[in-house]
Amino acid sequence: MSLAARVVSTRVALTEQIKAADPRSQRAVVPTMGALHSGHATLIDRAREYVGDSGLVTVTIFVNPTQFAANEDFDRYPRSLEADVDLCSRHGADLVFAPAVGDLYPGGATQVTADPGPLGLIYEGAIRPGHFQGVLTVVNKLFNMTQAQVGFFGEKDYQQLVLITQMVRDLSMGVTVVGVPTVREVDGLAMSSRNRYLNAADRERAELVPTAMQIGVDVANAGGDADDVVVAVNKFFDESDIDVDYVVVTNPDLGPAPADGQARLIVAVRLGSVRLLDNTSIHLGARQ
Ligand code: PAJ
Repeated sequence: MSLAARVVSTRVALTEQIKAADPRSQRAVVPTMGALHSGHATLIDRAREYVGDSGLVTVTIFVNPTQFAANEDFDRYPRSLEADVDLCSRHGADLVFAPAVGDLYPGGATQVTADPGPLGLIYEGAIRPGHFQGVLTVVNKLFNMTQAQVGFFGEKDYQQLVLITQMVRDLSMGVTVVGVPTVREVDGLAMSSRNRYLNAADRERAELVPTAMQIGVDVANAGGDADDVVVAVNKFFDESDIDVDYVVVTNPDLGPAPADGQARLIVAVRLGSVRLLDNTSIHLGARQ
């Protein structure tokens, strides 16, 4: 049986816990907004494997107001601290840092922020202006507060993962960013804290999203180019009466898709009021 994770809710208490840990132990952080599911649990498992038994794994649970626009779901975002701490303990996290908004932003929203640059303005960034600035700023703060040497993030939020990787590189932050493949429900739907907003009928229809991803993979495997993949996936969503925010094929860094080689199919659709994001690796062009 694993030990219970220690829960700290202030920066001061967090710093004390880090100071008390063996200074030689590697420090990993798994930033989350709570409402934890098996996707988050997998990040914690990967963090533990990475730092080993002597390492310090901190899970942060903080619904970050600065990454939500005024019309978004900040107030109704699911919060379930007790169950979350239980999951963290079962997966061997050492610390859970769950601060109040006032503790993370003692002076209110920060004056200095992390600017995501051009990649922050496309796809999710175009639909949610300011979102990635909020994400990068809070991740930067969480890296600093947890004194992390390595951070774990899901491929589920692919643009977020690319931007965090770029921030760390561009600002020489000295943190290793590890991306973890998307964890899915049995019908293939990518796990997400927001899936619980789906009504029963939409939850059933949500399996059409992984079906669409597979269509994209198949078109690419049959020799289709990036445009062919986008057209086929859009056609499937159209025939399935699913509203599309975007369907794109990019290179793995979110630049233009290559004619040949690894690429990323990224989709965002809406079922009722719920937005569903998914992405997968595809291979374009000739195979040897
Ligand atoms: P949240 O949505 O709680 O996700 C926390 C981490 O879990 C992210 O890195 C996300 O990509 C990963 N994750 C979510 N669903 C997953 C799944 N099905 N499989 C694998 N990983 C999954 O993303 C955020 O919070 C916030 O933006 C945050 C980075 C914490 C900054 O506030």
